[in-house]
Order: sequence, then structure tokens, then C-alpha cells
Amino acid sequence: MDRYAAIWTRTATGPLKMGDLVVTERETRFSYTEEFLDSKNPSGLSLLSSPKLYARNPIVFQTRQSFPLHPRLMQYIPGHGRGNIQRRLYTKILEKRANPAAPGFETDWEILLLAGRNGIGHLDIFRDDRAALEWYERPPREAIGNTERSTFWQSIRDDISQDILEMDAEKIAQLLGPTPSAGGMIPKLLVAIPDQQNWNGEFASAGMRELKGQAYRDVILKIEPVEYNGVVALESLCLDVHRELGFSVPKHWVASVDGMQLLAIERFDRDATGVPLPMESLYSVFATGDRQFNGNEDTDLEAVGTRLEKLSTVVNLDHRKARREIFQRFCLAFCTGNGDMHLENLSFLGGPDKVNLAPVYDPSPMRAWPQHNIRSAIPINFEGKNLAENFIRVGTAFGLSRKASAEMLQETLDATASFMARVMELPNVPSTRKQLLVDILTKERGDLQ
Ligand SMILES: Nc1ncnc2c1ncn2[C@@H]1O[C@H](COP(=O)(O)OP(=O)(O)O)[C@@H](O)[C@H]1O
Ligand SMILES: [Mg+2]
Repeated sequence: MDRYAAIWTRTATGPLKMGDLVVTERETRFSYTEEFLDSKNPSGLSLLSSPKLYARNPIVFQTRQSFPLHPRLMQYIPGHGRGNIQRRLYTKILEKRANPAAPGFETDWEILLLAGRNGIGHLDIFRDDRAALEWYERPPREAIGNTERSTFWQSIRDDISQDILEMDAEKIAQLLGPTPSAGGMIPKLLVAIPDQQNWNGEFASAGMRELKGQAYRDVILKIEPVEYNGVVALESLCLDVHRELGFSVPKHWVASVDGMQLLAIERFDRDATGVPLPMESLYSVFATGDRQFNGNEDTDLEAVGTRLEKLSTVVNLDHRKARREIFQRFCLAFCTGNGDMHLENLSFLGGPDKVNLAPVYDPSPMRAWPQHNIRSAIPINFEGKNLAENFIRVGTAFGLSRKASAEMLQETLDATASFMARVMELPNVPSTRKQLLVDILTKERGDLQ
């Protein structure tokens, strides 16, 4: 069966249709509209599927098992994790239809058409142009009232702490407006919050710029699930540590509502006026450019350096800067117990005419949870020699000299010497988690010295 969709984007001068999409079992075929090509907008479907590279030629992506759709569009399909709020909501809504979609790709596709807008990056996906026009004409929803909000948080809390099937999906979907998704393990919403120093958990739907004289900002709102008790406080600390070390880090807020820990992180895929910026994970870019790529395990960290260098021959990327920074982020991730720096936790921001590494996100020290206690989600050969020597080898694959790699590692170790003490001081993190993390770090850091 062929499936159709229209892809639009929002620009400084208003919504613009980018192109038409046809999806079959074998391929995803996308063609730019004349209007989009005439606009000279360099940022099309994805970094490697740009109007410059394809112009009037269709972009054909041959599907494979892990990518039933063009990889860039896969990022708009809610994840399958238990905590994915969007998937739960939309599955329930779809189940109530007269002809419910079959489980699997058919359901994914319907969810994409219901919720694939205002998500991460600059693409909005619609069933057809009429749906697009209707959507762009609708003003963002008013702030969500206190009573409604409290009902919402109660449902969410019940939902993530138990199996929630009782949640009133329609009501919540109505309350939130369409809830675009953002991949990952932790339940999250894309919403807007008042731009003030302190935040009490209040929010409005994504895209709200101002309400009753109060400025609002688009954020990613993460809701701490019971099984990751402590993750909000730990992630917030790690965001601070990255900022202290000079990385570009989005502003963030922590709030506690009805006993739930919430973390709001300013979205950096929007400019100051709210216009979306292209953003695409390394995962998506590698999968578009390499037919053999099916997941994080299909590369190793050293090869990531080479892939970036190759990418810079097609898009305007300062690969030396990007490689150096990834190596530095990797050193910091290692020194703070984050083994989860995988290819979806690293992204490019900007179009092919000028693309950079996106600011830091998701730097949680996941090794505090035994099931995530791995050194690196992107494979690295840690065999032989000593641990520091392995780091130096990786550093050289990222364009640093042996001396510069060793120095970067040492500087990162020095700069995070107080990290363990800071972890131990955190409120809202169970002491078993803190102790496990500190024990792992003490051992690993010792081996690096
Ligand atoms: N501040 C941000 N601005 C824009 N996009 C973001 C931001 N933080 C995260 N994202 C996007 O949202 C996705 C999920 O967020 P992440 O923090 O990685 O959650 P999880 O802990 O569930 O993996 C990321 O993969 C990235 O695409
Ligand atoms: Mg993530």
C-alpha cells in the first residue's frame, strides 16, 4: 500500500510547503516543491537530502528493517519505551477509531500524521495540505488551567508509576494540544513554560510565545519515572558541570509537582523568534549516508571521527572543531559516569549551508543504574594497554595529537575532581544510586590516572 504525506516547514515569513512524500514497503520517495526550491531555503528534508544535492530529482531512500522510513522521519515516530507518553496517548486514540490501524508500522504512520509537527527540528508532517493549512491557522492553546493541570499530573503520575491503561487519553490530548514526541527513555513533553528564574511546573502548549504579558519559552519537559528515581537531579548537575567547563548548554529549570520531579530544558532548535532550526542526530545522518548502518553498534567511536570528516566534504561543517568537541564531551561523559553518549544523544544543528554540533543534551550519569552501567554506548575497543592509552588513541582519531589528547583527558579529570562529592550532596537521589555511581567513578578515574 502506498502512503502519502505533505511536509511543511515554518520560516520567518510563514509556513512553506517543502515537498510531497510517498512511502511504500520498499522505499520512501520525497520531492521538493517548486515553491520551496524557488525560496532558496538550503535546509530541506535532511542534511544529506538537501535541495542543493537533489533539486528536482526525487530523494529515494530504500527501506531496510531498522528504517521503514527515511531516517530523518523516523525521529518523529514516538519510541516504543514504556514511558513514552505520546505513544500511549495516540495508541489509545487510534484504538477508538472505527477502523483501527494494525499494530506495527501502520500504527506508527498514523501517529506520525496525528502528532508529527512542532517536534524536534524544522519539519512538520501532515496527511495533506489542507491539514497543514488548518494547523498553521490555529493559535497556540491558552495556558493550561490549574485544575486541568493537576488532573493531568495526577494521570501522568499514576501512569508512569503503574500500568496506566486507565488514563483518559482524549482528555489529555485535548489538554496538551497535539503532543509531538522526542525520542528517548524518559517520559517527556514538548511544551512552553514562563520565562522566569523560578518555575513552579506551570506550562502551556508548545509554540506559546507570550501570555498575559509574560514571555514563554519552548522547552523539553522531562518527567522523572519511578524506575529512574534521581535522574532529574543528576541530569541537572551534569548540565551545570558541562556549562562550567565552557560547553554550550541550554538553560534549564527543575520543579517538583505533586511529588514528581520535573526538568525543563530550553529548546535550542528554535531561534529567538520561535522559528524552527534544522536539527538532526548523528544517527540519522549516518543512516542516510550509509546503507550498512543500522544502529550504534555499526560504528565505533574512532570511526565517528572519520565519518565527520567525510561529511564535511558535502556540508559546511567545521569538522576539526566538531571532532575535538566530541572527544572532549566523551572525556567528560566518562569522568562523570555517563556511558550513554550514543548517536542520538549527539546532533547537528543548522542546515547544510552552516551546520554545527548541537549544544549538550542528555548528559545524565546513567551508570548509576546497573542496567546502564556501560563505559560507552558507541563501541570502543578498551582491550589491552592501559585505559588512558585507549583514550589517547580515540583522541588521535578525532584529530588531536597524542599530547593534546592526554592533556584534554587530564584537564577533564582535574575539572571534575569534586564531582563525586557533589553527587553525594544531591537531595532527591536515592543513596544507593549515589553510592553505586561514586564507586564506579572512583575505580574508573583511578585506572585513568
Ligand atoms: N534542549 C533541547 N533542544 C532541542 N532538542 C532537544 C533538546 N534536548 C533534547 N532534545 C531532543 O530530544 C530528544 C530526547 O531528549 P533526551 O534528553 O535525549 O531524552 P532521553 O533522556 O529520554 O534520551 C533528543 O534525542 C534530542 O533530539
Ligand atoms: Mg537521549
